[in-house]
Amino acid sequence: MQFFIDTADIDEIRAAHAMGLVDGVTTNPSLVAKTGRPFAEVIQEICEVVDGPISAEAISLEYDPLVAEARALAAIHQNIVVKVPLVADGLRAVRTLTAEGIRTNVTLCFSATQALLAAKAGATYISPFVGRLDDISQVGMGLISEILDIYGNYDFDTQVLVASIRNPLHVLEAAQMGAHVATIPYKVMLQLVKHPLTDLGIQAFLKDWEKVPAP
Ligand code: E4P
Repeated sequence: MQFFIDTADIDEIRAAHAMGLVDGVTTNPSLVAKTGRPFAEVIQEICEVVDGPISAEAISLEYDPLVAEARALAAIHQNIVVKVPLVADGLRAVRTLTAEGIRTNVTLCFSATQALLAAKAGATYISPFVGRLDDISQVGMGLISEILDIYGNYDFDTQVLVASIRNPLHVLEAAQMGAHVATIPYKVMLQLVKHPLTDLGIQAFLKDWEKVPAP
Protein backbone atom coordinates (compact mmCIF):
# COMPACT_ATOMS: atom_id res chain seq x y z
CA MET A 1 0.00 0.00 0.00
CA GLN A 2 1.27 3.45 -0.82
CA PHE A 3 1.34 6.14 1.87
CA PHE A 4 0.48 9.68 0.89
CA ILE A 5 0.63 12.44 3.48
CA ASP A 6 -2.54 14.48 3.86
CA THR A 7 -1.23 17.96 4.54
CA ALA A 8 0.06 21.14 2.91
CA ASP A 9 2.43 21.83 5.80
CA ILE A 10 5.94 21.62 4.36
CA ASP A 11 7.56 20.88 7.73
CA GLU A 12 5.27 17.88 8.27
CA ILE A 13 5.97 16.70 4.72
CA ARG A 14 9.74 16.99 5.21
CA ALA A 15 9.60 15.13 8.54
CA ALA A 16 7.48 12.25 7.22
CA HIS A 17 9.53 12.08 4.03
CA ALA A 18 12.73 11.77 6.07
CA MET A 19 11.22 8.63 7.70
CA GLY A 20 10.53 7.11 4.28
CA LEU A 21 6.78 7.30 4.81
CA VAL A 22 5.82 9.51 1.88
CA ASP A 23 5.06 8.13 -1.57
CA GLY A 24 2.92 11.15 -2.44
CA VAL A 25 0.98 14.10 -1.00
CA THR A 26 -2.66 15.16 -0.97
CA THR A 27 -3.79 18.71 -0.33
CA ASN A 28 -7.17 20.42 -0.38
CA PRO A 29 -8.26 24.06 -0.08
CA SER A 30 -8.73 23.78 3.69
CA LEU A 31 -5.25 22.31 4.20
CA VAL A 32 -3.65 25.01 2.02
CA ALA A 33 -5.58 27.75 3.88
CA LYS A 34 -4.16 26.46 7.18
CA THR A 35 -0.61 27.22 5.96
CA GLY A 36 -1.46 30.91 5.44
CA ARG A 37 0.68 30.83 2.27
CA PRO A 38 -0.18 31.30 -1.43
CA PHE A 39 -1.39 28.10 -3.12
CA ALA A 40 1.10 28.01 -6.04
CA GLU A 41 4.07 28.65 -3.71
CA VAL A 42 3.01 25.79 -1.40
CA ILE A 43 2.49 23.32 -4.26
CA GLN A 44 5.83 24.24 -5.88
CA GLU A 45 7.68 23.68 -2.63
CA ILE A 46 5.98 20.31 -2.04
CA CYS A 47 7.02 19.22 -5.55
CA GLU A 48 10.63 20.06 -4.70
CA VAL A 49 10.56 17.81 -1.62
CA VAL A 50 8.54 14.79 -2.78
CA ASP A 51 9.08 12.91 -6.02
CA GLY A 52 5.65 11.29 -6.25
CA PRO A 53 2.03 12.15 -7.01
CA ILE A 54 1.06 15.53 -5.51
CA SER A 55 -2.67 16.19 -5.48
CA ALA A 56 -3.66 19.83 -6.04
CA GLU A 57 -7.37 20.64 -5.98
CA ALA A 58 -9.22 22.54 -8.70
CA ILE A 59 -12.03 24.68 -7.31
CA SER A 60 -14.08 25.29 -10.49
CA LEU A 61 -17.35 23.40 -10.73
CA GLU A 62 -18.19 23.85 -14.40
CA TYR A 63 -16.59 21.95 -17.26
CA ASP A 64 -14.73 24.69 -19.20
CA PRO A 65 -13.17 26.53 -16.24
CA LEU A 66 -12.49 23.21 -14.54
CA VAL A 67 -10.55 21.84 -17.50
CA ALA A 68 -8.65 25.12 -17.89
CA GLU A 69 -7.78 25.17 -14.19
CA ALA A 70 -6.70 21.52 -14.29
CA ARG A 71 -4.41 22.14 -17.27
CA ALA A 72 -2.81 25.08 -15.45
CA LEU A 73 -2.28 22.99 -12.31
CA ALA A 74 -0.81 20.10 -14.31
CA ALA A 75 1.60 22.53 -15.97
CA ILE A 76 3.15 23.43 -12.58
CA HIS A 77 5.00 20.11 -12.35
CA GLN A 78 4.91 16.65 -13.93
CA ASN A 79 3.98 15.08 -10.56
CA ILE A 80 0.77 17.08 -10.14
CA VAL A 81 -2.44 15.08 -9.93
CA VAL A 82 -5.51 17.29 -10.29
CA LYS A 83 -8.24 16.83 -7.70
CA VAL A 84 -11.65 17.11 -9.29
CA PRO A 85 -14.93 17.14 -7.36
CA LEU A 86 -17.35 14.27 -7.86
CA VAL A 87 -20.01 16.21 -9.80
CA ALA A 88 -21.27 15.69 -13.35
CA ASP A 89 -19.02 18.35 -14.89
CA GLY A 90 -16.15 16.93 -12.88
CA LEU A 91 -16.60 13.49 -14.47
CA ARG A 92 -16.76 15.08 -17.90
CA ALA A 93 -13.54 16.97 -17.13
CA VAL A 94 -11.87 13.76 -15.93
CA ARG A 95 -12.63 12.09 -19.23
CA THR A 96 -11.08 15.00 -21.17
CA LEU A 97 -8.04 15.29 -18.88
CA THR A 98 -7.38 11.55 -18.92
CA ALA A 99 -7.38 11.62 -22.72
CA GLU A 100 -4.75 14.39 -22.51
CA GLY A 101 -2.58 12.35 -20.14
CA ILE A 102 -3.36 14.51 -17.09
CA ARG A 103 -3.82 12.44 -13.95
CA THR A 104 -6.86 13.04 -11.76
CA ASN A 105 -7.95 12.35 -8.21
CA VAL A 106 -11.73 12.41 -7.95
CA THR A 107 -12.52 13.76 -4.52
CA LEU A 108 -15.44 13.97 -2.09
CA CYS A 109 -16.66 10.44 -2.88
CA PHE A 110 -19.25 9.10 -0.46
CA SER A 111 -20.86 6.16 -2.30
CA ALA A 112 -19.71 3.09 -4.21
CA THR A 113 -21.76 4.06 -7.24
CA GLN A 114 -20.03 7.46 -7.34
CA ALA A 115 -16.74 5.54 -7.32
CA LEU A 116 -17.97 3.35 -10.18
CA LEU A 117 -18.72 6.46 -12.25
CA ALA A 118 -15.27 7.93 -11.52
CA ALA A 119 -13.61 4.73 -12.71
CA LYS A 120 -15.69 4.70 -15.89
CA ALA A 121 -14.68 8.33 -16.54
CA GLY A 122 -11.03 7.24 -16.30
CA ALA A 123 -9.97 8.71 -12.96
CA THR A 124 -6.44 7.85 -11.81
CA TYR A 125 -7.54 7.87 -8.15
CA ILE A 126 -10.85 7.86 -6.32
CA SER A 127 -10.88 9.46 -2.86
CA PRO A 128 -13.63 8.07 -0.59
CA PHE A 129 -13.76 10.12 2.64
CA VAL A 130 -14.02 7.54 5.43
CA GLY A 131 -13.75 9.86 8.44
CA ARG A 132 -16.53 12.13 7.27
CA LEU A 133 -18.81 9.09 6.87
CA ASP A 134 -17.91 7.91 10.38
CA ASP A 135 -18.82 11.43 11.55
CA ILE A 136 -22.41 10.88 10.42
CA SER A 137 -22.61 7.35 11.88
CA GLN A 138 -21.96 5.49 8.64
CA VAL A 139 -19.10 2.99 8.50
CA GLY A 140 -16.50 4.72 6.31
CA MET A 141 -14.33 1.65 5.83
CA GLY A 142 -17.40 -0.27 4.63
CA LEU A 143 -17.38 2.02 1.59
CA ILE A 144 -13.75 1.10 0.85
CA SER A 145 -14.64 -2.58 0.93
CA GLU A 146 -17.55 -2.03 -1.49
CA ILE A 147 -15.43 -0.03 -3.94
CA LEU A 148 -12.57 -2.55 -3.90
CA ASP A 149 -15.09 -5.34 -4.64
CA ILE A 150 -16.60 -3.45 -7.56
CA TYR A 151 -13.27 -2.38 -9.06
CA GLY A 152 -11.98 -5.95 -8.69
CA ASN A 153 -15.01 -7.33 -10.53
CA TYR A 154 -14.22 -5.26 -13.62
CA ASP A 155 -10.46 -4.77 -13.44
CA PHE A 156 -10.66 -0.95 -13.44
CA ASP A 157 -7.29 0.87 -13.39
CA THR A 158 -8.53 3.54 -10.96
CA GLN A 159 -6.73 3.32 -7.63
CA VAL A 160 -8.59 3.51 -4.34
CA LEU A 161 -7.09 6.31 -2.23
CA VAL A 162 -8.51 6.11 1.29
CA ALA A 163 -9.01 9.72 2.40
CA SER A 164 -10.26 11.54 5.49
CA ILE A 165 -8.28 9.12 7.64
CA ARG A 166 -8.58 10.05 11.31
CA ASN A 167 -6.89 7.22 13.25
CA PRO A 168 -4.51 4.23 13.01
CA LEU A 169 -7.40 1.74 12.69
CA HIS A 170 -8.39 3.33 9.38
CA VAL A 171 -4.85 2.63 8.12
CA LEU A 172 -4.87 -0.94 9.43
CA GLU A 173 -8.18 -1.74 7.77
CA ALA A 174 -7.15 -0.04 4.52
CA ALA A 175 -4.05 -2.26 4.39
CA GLN A 176 -6.01 -5.41 5.30
CA MET A 177 -8.52 -4.67 2.54
CA GLY A 178 -5.78 -4.07 -0.02
CA ALA A 179 -6.56 -0.41 -0.76
CA HIS A 180 -3.98 1.00 -3.14
CA VAL A 181 -3.22 4.19 -1.18
CA ALA A 182 -3.94 5.68 2.23
CA THR A 183 -3.53 9.42 2.60
CA ILE A 184 -2.60 9.95 6.21
CA PRO A 185 -2.37 13.10 8.36
CA TYR A 186 1.07 13.55 9.98
CA LYS A 187 -0.48 13.20 13.45
CA VAL A 188 -1.80 9.74 12.55
CA MET A 189 1.60 8.73 11.12
CA LEU A 190 3.13 9.54 14.52
CA GLN A 191 0.36 7.55 16.26
CA LEU A 192 1.22 4.60 14.02
CA VAL A 193 4.86 4.74 15.11
CA LYS A 194 4.04 4.64 18.81
CA HIS A 195 3.62 1.55 20.98
CA PRO A 196 3.80 1.66 24.80
CA LEU A 197 5.71 -1.65 24.91
CA THR A 198 8.35 -0.18 22.59
CA ASP A 199 8.81 2.74 25.00
CA LEU A 200 8.90 0.45 28.06
CA GLY A 201 11.36 -1.85 26.29
CA ILE A 202 13.68 1.07 25.49
CA GLN A 203 13.57 2.26 29.12
CA ALA A 204 14.40 -1.25 30.41
CA PHE A 205 17.27 -1.72 27.97
CA LEU A 206 18.77 1.68 28.85
CA LYS A 207 18.50 0.90 32.57
CA ASP A 208 20.18 -2.48 32.14
CA TRP A 209 22.86 -0.92 29.95
CA GLU A 210 23.98 1.10 32.99
CA LYS A 211 24.80 -2.25 34.70
CA VAL A 212 27.15 -3.34 31.92
CA PRO A 213 30.73 -2.87 33.18
CA ALA A 214 32.87 -0.36 31.36
CA PRO A 215 35.73 -1.97 29.36
C1 E4P B 1 -7.64 14.31 1.06
O1 E4P B 1 -7.46 14.21 -0.13
C2 E4P B 1 -8.89 14.83 1.65
O2 E4P B 1 -9.15 16.10 1.19
C3 E4P B 1 -8.77 14.78 3.14
O3 E4P B 1 -8.32 13.48 3.50
C4 E4P B 1 -10.03 15.13 3.87
O4 E4P B 1 -9.87 14.90 5.24
P1 E4P B 1 -10.87 15.47 6.35
O5 E4P B 1 -12.20 14.83 6.15
O6 E4P B 1 -10.24 15.08 7.65
O7 E4P B 1 -10.94 16.95 6.13
